[in-house]
Amino acid sequence: MSANAREVVLGVGAGIAAYKACDLLRRLQDRGYVITVVPTPSSLNFVGAATWAALSGRPVTSQVWENTHEVAHISIAERTDFFLIAPATADLIARIAAGRADDLLTNLVLASDVPIMIVPAMHPQMWNDAATVANVEMLRARGYIVMEPDVGRLTGSDSGQGRFPEVSAIIERFDAVTGNVRDLIGRKILISGGGTREDIDPVRFIGNRSSGKQSIAIAKAALQRGAEVHLVAANMDTSTLQDLNVTHVESAAQMREALAGTFESCDVLIMCAAVADAKPVRTVVEKIKKSLFTSIELEANPDLLAELGKRKISQVMIGFAAETSNLIESARAKLVAKGLDIIYVNDVSNGAIFGKDTTSGMILKRTGADIALKEVSKDALANLLLDDALRQLG
Ligand code: CTP
Repeated sequence: MSANAREVVLGVGAGIAAYKACDLLRRLQDRGYVITVVPTPSSLNFVGAATWAALSGRPVTSQVWENTHEVAHISIAERTDFFLIAPATADLIARIAAGRADDLLTNLVLASDVPIMIVPAMHPQMWNDAATVANVEMLRARGYIVMEPDVGRLTGSDSGQGRFPEVSAIIERFDAVTGNVRDLIGRKILISGGGTREDIDPVRFIGNRSSGKQSIAIAKAALQRGAEVHLVAANMDTSTLQDLNVTHVESAAQMREALAGTFESCDVLIMCAAVADAKPVRTVVEKIKKSLFTSIELEANPDLLAELGKRKISQVMIGFAAETSNLIESARAKLVAKGLDIIYVNDVSNGAIFGKDTTSGMILKRTGADIALKEVSKDALANLLLDDALRQLG
């Protein structure tokens, strides 16, 4: 079981409909599922491993004899929350029903104890054959979800029941299996991300190493769960985001203004941004010559989160803490001082976290049990924080 309960193995059987599974994979990713593709060896005749690796962003293995040191049939099984086998051929269904384990996919099916949904696609004669009918019946009796194939035209001139169902119908059924609900519909989520820059002169600034990746992960997860999202983005790339309101800012003062305008109407504030704690007392219009660039006089920036904490009405407030020592004590002190409900503290010593796709740290809450996370994806952390925000919203 994974930390975000969204790890899916997409098993691909050797049917011509394998090409339709490419679109299925994309649509699943749009809905926040994290996919590992496990094709059967013969399905690679239809869609090759390179396509699956490129689309999923993960290595693709189809035999237990590849990368044996990783013991894939156990390691993948351990982290998987759901199986979706699409398309499933008559042969693949027969092998699963018989408990065979002659490729990686069937090994994984045997080695896991999570919901498995099968989407058959084959010639109508094969679908209606007594052997397939008995195998499907047996699998359903064991708790497998086996979708009915569509009725219609097949690859050749034949028609009948055996067509790969529409991708939207597969997703709808799969969402029902996984309980992937749009539980944030009607909720307004305000997120800050990236790192502010405080100008010294026209070419120099005081900045920090924040990449904004965590705020992107939260924005995507919140959108996927149906929320209305507003991102205040400081010096970060937001080109992978759609369907949300983005305000681009540079400095802490600009971020303060952007947040102030939206805070009152939001249900949840997630303050991911690394705000510069200080700025130059004076920003010089002309570039400072190097001979004169020897010291910068600084003054403190306001603490944006603490300020908003004082204006809080019923908003759930989530902060982040970047620490290099005394992680838990320092973060708990910030949780109280800034009037937060939740704080995520991560250890940023030795360049850990910044720019990476994974994070290790601790979710500390005003009420409720803390959660320790080790090397989980930023997507997983995003969903855990949103789960908690929703719980606090009631
Ligand atoms: N924060 C803020 N305004 C600031 C500084 C920080 O809103 N001027 C927010 C950050 O977005 C984060 C939280 O406060 O959600 C904690 O930030 P962090 O940098 O860990 O702590 P600081 O309050 O800056 O304290 P210190 O630098 O002493 O650790």
